[in-house]
Amino acid sequence: PRLGAFVHRRIMAPGALAAASLMLAIPASAASHSPGAPGIGDPYYPAYGNGGYDVSHYDLRLKYQPATDTLEGTAALLARTTQDLSRFNLDFLLDVGEVRVNGAKASFATSGEHELEITPKTPLAKGTDVTVVVRYSGVPSSKQAYGFTSWHRTPDGGVGANEPEAAWWWFPSNDHPLDKATYDVSVQVPDGTQAISNGTLQSTSSRAGWTRFNWRSNKPQATYLATLAVGKFDITTGTTESGIPVLNAYSKDLGDNAGAARASIERTGEVADWLAEYYGPYPYNALGGYVPNTTTGYALETQTRPFYSPRQFANGSNVSVVVHELAHQWYGDLVSVAGWKDIWINEGFARYAQWLWSEHEGEGTAQEIADHVYASRPADDPFWAVKPGDPGPENQFHIAVYDRGALTLQALRNEIGDDAFFAILKGWPQKFAHGNATVADFQKYAEEVSGQSLGTLFDTWLFQPSKPTAPAARAASI
Ligand code: ARG
Ligand code: ZN
Repeated sequence: PRLGAFVHRRIMAPGALAAASLMLAIPASAASHSPGAPGIGDPYYPAYGNGGYDVSHYDLRLKYQPATDTLEGTAALLARTTQDLSRFNLDFLLDVGEVRVNGAKASFATSGEHELEITPKTPLAKGTDVTVVVRYSGVPSSKQAYGFTSWHRTPDGGVGANEPEAAWWWFPSNDHPLDKATYDVSVQVPDGTQAISNGTLQSTSSRAGWTRFNWRSNKPQATYLATLAVGKFDITTGTTESGIPVLNAYSKDLGDNAGAARASIERTGEVADWLAEYYGPYPYNALGGYVPNTTTGYALETQTRPFYSPRQFANGSNVSVVVHELAHQWYGDLVSVAGWKDIWINEGFARYAQWLWSEHEGEGTAQEIADHVYASRPADDPFWAVKPGDPGPENQFHIAVYDRGALTLQALRNEIGDDAFFAILKGWPQKFAHGNATVADFQKYAEEVSGQSLGTLFDTWLFQPSKPTAPAARAASI
């Protein structure tokens, strides 16, 4: 049962006539307030995010019981309105007990797949600071939207990590990369169990059988890059040569994959320092990785501390996946997609970083890998039907976004030469640091830096549903 349903009926009950007579009593300025949009305007996912406000900070104070997969607590959001608001939405799935806006109890209702509609007692004026406190509880793994869950129970806890949707299962948010914010995540778990999240572990405290972990992620962070894992972990700490503190967490129950996972993820500092030579200084003040005991297949570039699945290490060490997720810290996390159609500015570059790493390790150059990918996919392979520059929500994580996406970068490199290419790789994260960008922004930037017109190249490699006739390898024809 959804708690909001009753409230919703109560709001609607007075009917149009009563609402009309009520309006007469409201000052003219308040009558012009309107509801915030239920989506932020992403054509791939119209209901994701919301309109009318911008969140600057999430303060989450939670308690999680692994035995029952119960999460409860309070989220305090600091936001600023971007229009006069009679009402606004958050995206959320758990059961809400109370909402306060600027201290006053607000009415709330649920709608759609994941909307929480909040009606403050007093309408909100454009350009004002608002504090929203949501008290909630629930069993995250029992909640589905669109038929799936992004909260995965493990034998000793649970983990929330997915793209593009993960937040709905553990905190109310404006769930779209366009609205980045800083985070304090404080989670109480039974003694002997750990809570892992983004950023820096500020402190822990124990009381009456429960341990609280206080995490802080102090640079703007997209909602899908916020993560929470609870379980029994071994924690390692260290510092990169460049001075960034590293904290890694490994489930105590990784079985045969434990050695390979550690042999890979313990190289996080080395990899981040290597990437910094290409991309500029590492943008955050914390670093690491974590591996919960989950059967999930993917890894995710959760900010400062990527999520890895044990399955990535089933064949032995896999530093390449560490390179991929850490490359995203610049390409995806520091500069985030403006819309989900822009996924190439994340995945094409994270894949290309893996090719550069292969070259670094003497396992094949980026050009050799590009030639191989190009040659091994015949023209009638459905791979070439996917347009990495606008793949559609169904193909957002299609292998073509990654491999054809990286082929595009090899084609660009061959077209403009190494000096301009690597200047672009390093300049881009700074140009849009802590913000958002589109594929078109990248083309424009590449044209500025190289001084070349690149419309045909980008159109051929990113936007045509067919195999480009010229190989990415200009070198191959020499
Ligand atoms: N950005 C992630 C990565 O490249 C991909 C996540 C894919 N998500 C999914 N549900 N399959 O590592
Ligand atoms: Zn990726």
